[in-house]
Amino acid sequence: MKKIAVLGGGGFIGHHLSRRLANDGHDIDIVDITTEKLSDLLDRDNVSYHDLDIRHPDNKSKIWDIVDANDLVIDLIAYANPQEYVDTPIDVVKLNYDNNMDVVLDCVETDTRLIQFSTCEVYGKLGNRTGDDIVFNEDTSNLILGPVTQHRWIYASAKELLERMVHAYGMEHGLDWTIIRPFNFIGRDMDYIVESPDEGTPRVFASFMSSLLYDHPMFLVNGGTNLRVFTYIDDAVDAIEFIIENEDEQFSQEIVNIGNPNNEYSIREFAELMRELYVDMVPGSTLPPLEEISGEEFYGDGYEDSERRVPDVTKLQRAGWEPKWDLESALRETMEYYIDEHQQAATVNPEPE
Ligand code: NAD
Ligand code: UGA
Repeated sequence: MKKIAVLGGGGFIGHHLSRRLANDGHDIDIVDITTEKLSDLLDRDNVSYHDLDIRHPDNKSKIWDIVDANDLVIDLIAYANPQEYVDTPIDVVKLNYDNNMDVVLDCVETDTRLIQFSTCEVYGKLGNRTGDDIVFNEDTSNLILGPVTQHRWIYASAKELLERMVHAYGMEHGLDWTIIRPFNFIGRDMDYIVESPDEGTPRVFASFMSSLLYDHPMFLVNGGTNLRVFTYIDDAVDAIEFIIENEDEQFSQEIVNIGNPNNEYSIREFAELMRELYVDMVPGSTLPPLEEISGEEFYGDGYEDSERRVPDVTKLQRAGWEPKWDLESALRETMEYYIDEHQQAATVNPEPE
């Protein structure tokens, strides 16, 4: 059993991962600024929660101590929502690069292994890729970002530089690292649900789920023609566990894509599938309108998008990992959870007549 610090363990991926690792008997130190998704974990003997904001200078030594006390640090802390890249690009770099670099340096100084979460977004756009390069390989694909004036790409730039520094500290100072590039994970307790569109813009699954539950339009940005592969959170957590368990043999000083290439859908197809499932799961329900909108109108100036991103997952497959969840099963499981929660809330707080 290991002692593992999960930074950002209160977030979408972090709380699913922390639960799995705690169930497996590891000792977990969660660092986050929220416990909203952690209620079932906080009273476990093998889970400690540290309410620490990594931006705050007073917390630096506390985070150093946590890093030093653990065998492995998994760093998931980031702003990870495209609306934030468009609205507050400087904050994105400060957190996703500057503050995360402090954690990298703590790992170097304490000789602690680091699993750093990056993103599939570093691959960027399709650009003029042809042939094999359409499928993104961790070690051979180019990273093609848009112009500086399309500042959405600042998130990918910050993550890319963080990756390059982790790699460089491995070369020059022997840091033991693995970088993970996730591809659109979906599942329960992802982001947040908004009752009306002016409350915020969660990532696409949570955005469409909010529209279905609260009957506001489902917006298809730029016609919903861009493609994503959707990866169910349980498959993703299996993959992360594989990496933790096989760290020395296969994954030390490696970048690893985690994604389910079988689940590639356009955003329009994704919306249509969710609508079909919703009607099936909530008989008699009415569906909200499906509306096309430009990226600028939806997110603001500076928004540009990845047209398509398909992962090469042979590194994980060689270790024995295969994704098990097709998109329809993943959506059924996740939507059922949100529909049940919504119906329970409506029973406790019925709408006034
Ligand atoms: P998330 O926003 O749910 O989780 C991030 C967590 O970090 C949150 O719980 C948040 O409270 C915490 N955090 C933010 N600022 C902090 C601070 N200053 N101090 C301490 N904690 C702070 O995001 P997620 O989807 O779980 O993503 C986790 C990581 O994976 C991120 O690095 C993200 O860039 C990367 N990623 C995720 C996906 C995906 O499919 N979900 C895809 C690509 C990359
Ligand atoms: C996001 C973030 O950049 C990262 O968290 C992460 O790197 C990546 O997801 C990921 O999950 O792998 P993106 O896929 O663009 O990137 O984020 P979403 O908000 O989930 O959007 C997916 C697509 O749906 C985009 O084309 C977006 O324009 C579209 N969209 C989103 C809509 O059409 N309608 C919506 O209501 C929301």
